[in-house]
Amino acid sequence: MTKTTAISTGSRLAQLKHKMETREARIGIIGMGYVGLPLALLFRAERFRVTGFDIATDKVATLKAGSSYIVRILPESIQEAQRAGFSATSDYSGIAEMDAIIICVPTPLNEHHEPDLSYVRQTVESIAPFVRENQLIVLESTTYPGTTEEIVVPILESGNRHGLKVTRGFDDAGLHVAFSPERENPGDDSVARHEIPKVVGGCSPAAAELAASMYGTIFRRVVPVTSPAAAEMTKLLENIYRCVNIALVNELKQLCMRMGIDIYEVIEAARTKPFGFQAFYPGPGLGGHCIPIDPFYLSWKAREFDFRTRFIELAGEVNMRMPYFVIEQIAAALNNRAKALNGAKVLVLGVAYKRDVDDLRESPSLTIIELLREKGAQVAYNDPYFPTVGQGRHYALNMTNTPLNGLAQYDAVVIVTDHSEYDYRAIVEQAQLVVDTRNATRGIDSQKIVRC
Ligand SMILES: NC(=O)c1ccc[n+]([C@@H]2O[C@H](COP(=O)([O-])OP(=O)(O)OC[C@H]3O[C@@H](n4cnc5c(N)ncnc54)[C@H](O)[C@@H]3O)[C@@H](O)[C@H]2O)c1
Repeated sequence: MTKTTAISTGSRLAQLKHKMETREARIGIIGMGYVGLPLALLFRAERFRVTGFDIATDKVATLKAGSSYIVRILPESIQEAQRAGFSATSDYSGIAEMDAIIICVPTPLNEHHEPDLSYVRQTVESIAPFVRENQLIVLESTTYPGTTEEIVVPILESGNRHGLKVTRGFDDAGLHVAFSPERENPGDDSVARHEIPKVVGGCSPAAAELAASMYGTIFRRVVPVTSPAAAEMTKLLENIYRCVNIALVNELKQLCMRMGIDIYEVIEAARTKPFGFQAFYPGPGLGGHCIPIDPFYLSWKAREFDFRTRFIELAGEVNMRMPYFVIEQIAAALNNRAKALNGAKVLVLGVAYKRDVDDLRESPSLTIIELLREKGAQVAYNDPYFPTVGQGRHYALNMTNTPLNGLAQYDAVVIVTDHSEYDYRAIVEQAQLVVDTRNATRGIDSQKIVRC
C-alpha cells in the first residue's frame, strides 16, 4: 500500500474505514487460542464490539462462564470484556454481522513434516457461506507465502452465497482480504503489545488500507507491504532468523564445552558490541508453536520452485539433536559419579517449552522425558504450570506434577525450563546433581552443577 487516502470519500469503503477508525466496527475473531483471545481483549479494550468464534465448545463454555484457560489471562479480564459486550460462540452464522473477521487458527506440521493447512481451510469453508459484501477478512495464522491468495481467496470466492469476488482495486465491490502476521512473544512483557509494529499486506490497496485502519486503532505503528505474500514471508523471515541463530549458538555451545570455554561468558562479551550482533542463547532444543515449525512451511513451499532452503535444514538438524545432547550429558554426569542412567531417578524441572508460559507445544522437555524413559530412567517432573502431562511427543506420558521437595532422593535434577519462580540456589543445595541446560544456575558455584 502506498497511498493512504485513495478510498473515495462517501463510498461504502470509506464508510467501513470510518467505522474502523471510530471503533463502531464489529470485529469477529476466529480461534480463541493463545493468539486470538488476547487479540479479542485488545480490540475490546479499544471499545470495539468483539465476538470470538471457536469450534472448541469447552473453550466457548469457559469464556461464557467468565473464566479463562490461559494462565496469563485472568478471569477478571474476561468478565470485564463480557460486561462491555464481548461474547464467544461456535455458531458461524454471526459472521454476517461482522465488519472485520480475523482468523487465528493453528497451522501445525503433519507427521511428514509438511504444512497442515486443514484448520485454515476448514475455517474459511465454514465462514464462506456467511460472508457478505464490504467485509474485511484477515488471516493472522503463520503460513507459507501464497496461502492467502492460493487457499483463502479461492475458497471465499467459490463458497460465498452472493457470487462475491475478492477486491483488487480501490472501490471495487466485494470482499477485502489481507494477511497480517501475529508477532507476540509469549511470556515476554518487556515490549507492550501495542508497541509491536503490525505488518499488513492486502490483496488490494483498499484491503490493505482498511486493515491498516483497523490495526492502527491498537498498534502504534502499522507497516504496510505490497502483498499478502510479502507479509507471509516477513513472518517466516523473522522466525527463520531466530531458528538459524539459535542453531548457531547451540552448535558453538558444544564446541565451547569441548574447548573449556563458557559460551554464556562469550555471548555476554559479544553483546557489548553496539552494532552488528544480536544475542541468542543455547538451550535444550526448540519448542513452541513457531520456531520449530514455521521454517518448514517455507522449505516445503520452496520445493515447488526447485529450491532447497539449506540454512533451514541445517538449523533444524542442529536444533533437533539438542535433546539427545542433553541425554548424553546427563548420562556422562551420572557416569562420573559411578552411576548409570538405566535405573537412575531423574527429576525434570520445567515441561513448558519456555520460561513462565503455560504452553507445552513442541516442548523439548517432552522429548527429554521420553528419551530418559527409553534409557531406563525413573522420571518425575515438576512444573508450576502443569499439574499433569498426558501426551508426550511420541507416546502418552500420563504423569502428574511432583512437589519440589525431597530433591536429595534423585540421582539427577535436570533444569530444562528455567521458570523464574524456582529458587535455583535452594535446588542446588538440596540436590545431589544438577544438570542445567539453561544457565539458570549462573552465579552459583558448586561441584554439583553440570552446565550443558
Ligand atoms: N502462540 C503464539 O505465541 C503465536 C505467535 C505468533 C504466531 N502464532 C500463530 O498464530 C496461529 C494460532 O496460534 P495459537 O497459538 O493461538 O493456536 P491455539 O491452538 O492456541 O489456538 C487456536 C484456536 O483455534 C481454534 N480452531 C481450530 N480450528 C477452528 C475452526 N475451524 N474454527 C474456529 N476455531 C478453530 C482452536 O480450537 C483453538 O482454540 C498459528 O498459526 C500460530 O503459528 C502463534
